[in-house]
Amino acid sequence: MSRHSIGALDTFPEGAGTKIEIGSATIAVFRVEDCVYAIADRCSHAEASLSEGELFGFEIECPRHGAEFDIRTGAVCSLPATKPVASYTTEITNGEVVLTIEDEASDE
Ligand code: FES
Repeated sequence: MSRHSIGALDTFPEGAGTKIEIGSATIAVFRVEDCVYAIADRCSHAEASLSEGELFGFEIECPRHGAEFDIRTGAVCSLPATKPVASYTTEITNGEVVLTIEDEASDE
């Protein structure tokens, strides 16, 4: 497990995605009011960046074919994707967003 400070809360635009890279992980970060959520940036259906999608409440719509994922859990909410994406724990400490990456798990 590793923890990473990824920037001040105020630097993340509300209601939109931000792509960040930590080591080999590409992560889509979303701010909703004063909370931040993070999921894998790659859609589980095909090659597309979820940080470039449109956010509806807590659901991000893939910009390529329109599958939706819950940014709180990575769960898939609509076709054509059928598999979830990874989600990451975030917390805000003294105005800084801290993201935790658990030990690498193999893709299935
Ligand atoms: S690439 Fe995301 S729904 Fe197809």
